[in-house]
Amino acid sequence: MADLNEPMELSDGLRMPRIGFGTWRLTDESAPAAVAAALEDGYRLIDTAELYKNEKGVGEGVRASGLREEVVVQSKVWNDHHGTEEPRRALERSLELLGLDRIDVYLVHWPAPAQDLYVDTWRALAEAREEGLVASIGVSNFLPAHIERLIAETGVAPALNQIELHPYFNQAALRDWHAEKGIAVQAWGPLGQRSGSLMDEPVLREVSEAHGKDAGQVILRWHLQHGTVPVPKSSNPERIRSNLEVFDFELSDAEMEAIDGLDTGVRQGMDPETVN
Ligand SMILES: NC(=O)c1ccc[n+]([C@@H]2O[C@H](COP(=O)([O-])OP(=O)(O)OC[C@H]3O[C@@H](n4cnc5c(N)ncnc54)[C@H](OP(=O)(O)O)[C@@H]3O)[C@@H](O)[C@H]2O)c1
Repeated sequence: MADLNEPMELSDGLRMPRIGFGTWRLTDESAPAAVAAALEDGYRLIDTAELYKNEKGVGEGVRASGLREEVVVQSKVWNDHHGTEEPRRALERSLELLGLDRIDVYLVHWPAPAQDLYVDTWRALAEAREEGLVASIGVSNFLPAHIERLIAETGVAPALNQIELHPYFNQAALRDWHAEKGIAVQAWGPLGQRSGSLMDEPVLREVSEAHGKDAGQVILRWHLQHGTVPVPKSSNPERIRSNLEVFDFELSDAEMEAIDGLDTGVRQGMDPETVN
C-alpha cells in the first residue's frame, strides 16, 4: 500500500491530499466558517463547483485561513457551460467569485453526452491549463468511453475523475480501469448517506468497535486503503474534525473485504449517461 500519510502524485505532478472537504449544500453564508474549520483541522483539499453557488464563501474561507498556498482548491464547470467558449467564461467567473488567481484543479462536472460538447469543453480546459489559470484538469462522472474519447480526440488525459463511490456502490471495475490508465479517483458521496443506512450496517458497527472509531471514520479509511480520495462534507465542527482522524488505524484485509461485501451495484445519485 502507498504511504497514506503522503499526498498522492497525479499524472501531471499535482500533489493531491488523500482526503478532501466537500462543500455541496454549504452556502456563501455557511461556507466561510466550515472551510475555515476544515483548514484549521488539517484538510488541504477543498471541493466546490459552479453549481454549488458557494464559491464566494469557499474563497473567503480559504483566503482568511492564510494557508492558500498549501491548499488544493478544486471547482467544476456546470452542464450549461459546455462548448468552446463557455467553459473559459465559467472558469473566469469562478476565479472571481473565489477571489483567487488560480484554481488548482478544475473538472468537467458531468459529460452530459446528449449535448455532445464535452470534447470541446475539455479542449477549453486544456487551454486554460496551458495559460496557468488552472494547475490540473480532470473530469467528474465520466465513464470509460467518455474518457477514451477525450484522449483519442485531444491527446490529453484527465488527471482524475470524481465519481460516486461508497461501500454500497464501490465501483470495483471502474477503480481498476482508472488504476490501469493512471487516472486518480476521487469519491463523491463517500459516506453513502443518500439512501439506506450504511452506517448502521452490522459489519461497520463491528469494525468500528474493534478499532474504537465511528462508522464514518471506518468508511473513510476504507476509501484511503482502496486508493480513492474521499471528499466528505459536513457542516458540523465535530464531524469535520472526526472525518479527518483516519490516519491512525488500519483495516485488515478481512475487514476491507467485509466492507466490500456491502456493494449493491446501485447508484444513489444520477446516471452519467442520462444527466444533461
Ligand atoms: N461531482 C459530483 O457530481 C458530486 C456529486 C455530489 C457531491 N459531490 C461532492 O462530494 C462531496 C461529498 O458528497 P455528499 O455531500 O453528497 O455526501 P457525503 O459527504 O457522503 O455525506 C454528507 C452528509 O453526511 C453527513 N455526515 C458527514 N460526516 C458524517 C459522519 N461522520 N457521520 C454521520 N454523518 C456525517 C453530513 O451531515 P452534516 O453536515 O450535518 O455533518 C451530510 O448530510 C460534496 O459535498 C461535493 O463536494 C460531487
